[in-house]
Amino acid sequence: MTLNIDLSEHTALITGATGQLGRVMVKTLAQAGASIAIHFNKNKQSAFEIKESLKDFGVKTCIVQCDVTDLESVMKMKNEVESLIGNPDIVITNAVSQIFPWRTVLEEDIKDYEDQFKSSVMQNVNMAKAFVPHMQRSKWGRFIGINTECTIQTFETQSAYVSGKKGMDGVLRVLAKEIGPYNITVNQIAPGWTVSYKDRENGTEEQPEYSNNIPLRRRGTDQEIANVAAFLASDLASFITGALIPVTGGNAVL
Ligand SMILES: NC(=O)c1ccc[n+]([C@@H]2O[C@H](COP(=O)([O-])OP(=O)(O)OC[C@H]3O[C@@H](n4cnc5c(N)ncnc54)[C@H](OP(=O)(O)O)[C@@H]3O)[C@@H](O)[C@H]2O)c1
Repeated sequence: MTLNIDLSEHTALITGATGQLGRVMVKTLAQAGASIAIHFNKNKQSAFEIKESLKDFGVKTCIVQCDVTDLESVMKMKNEVESLIGNPDIVITNAVSQIFPWRTVLEEDIKDYEDQFKSSVMQNVNMAKAFVPHMQRSKWGRFIGINTECTIQTFETQSAYVSGKKGMDGVLRVLAKEIGPYNITVNQIAPGWTVSYKDRENGTEEQPEYSNNIPLRRRGTDQEIANVAAFLASDLASFITGALIPVTGGNAVL
């Protein structure tokens, strides 16, 4: 008997599907047979290119826009997805608002903390309010949050990003307990600094100063993160909930 991941009975919505990691999650879940809602915020053109790239998988796809920090916008997206391809029972909260450069607590702008709170905490609250009720009715669901190794490292200058992602961690650990009885799992993936299409385009895959401290001596890839998302979405992961899984080559572990 071969072991495979079959999501053909399921519909997945990935926020930030136009981003570096999101686009590979979308492709991987489509490869596993899931119907796919491709979410974007501002990058409409990428969303259309990604939809085109899924053609060969023969799954239902749609494109939806929203600002994940705004509940009204998320609820509007929920209604759109429902009418286009049906209610998602796999939700991946992957979108992130990037702040740059990172600064020390004393230097970081107050607005950056508010921005990260909205991007990480409120995204997850809004997405749960919009999409969990259908999962509860179906008695099956997968809610997967994309966190970061930074919450384990807590290095200097990471405070705005880490505080948002630690808040997200709090929301999702509680949510796992609240909706576990409905056969819905809630888990998080904490990637390290990951090789994406941007690195491949720019030739920046190798980062020895970072990789030399990683037990596996290399950066992980976008595909390696997407593989864990596909696993958590599948029935192979049916008894894992409330977990945060570092996918860091051993760089940051719990
Ligand atoms: N890349 C890494 O090495 C790495 C490492 C650790 C953790 N992570 C985590 O992995 C996830 C993906 O990161 P990434 O590097 O792929 O990010 P990215 O390339 O910067 O993409 C960010 C995505 O989020 C969307 N977005 C931003 N603000 C939004 C808003 N207010 N409402 C809705 N969507 C919004 C963007 O949409 P548009 O482009 O359409 O505007 C884009 O699709 C994040 O949660 C990040 O914290 C990444």
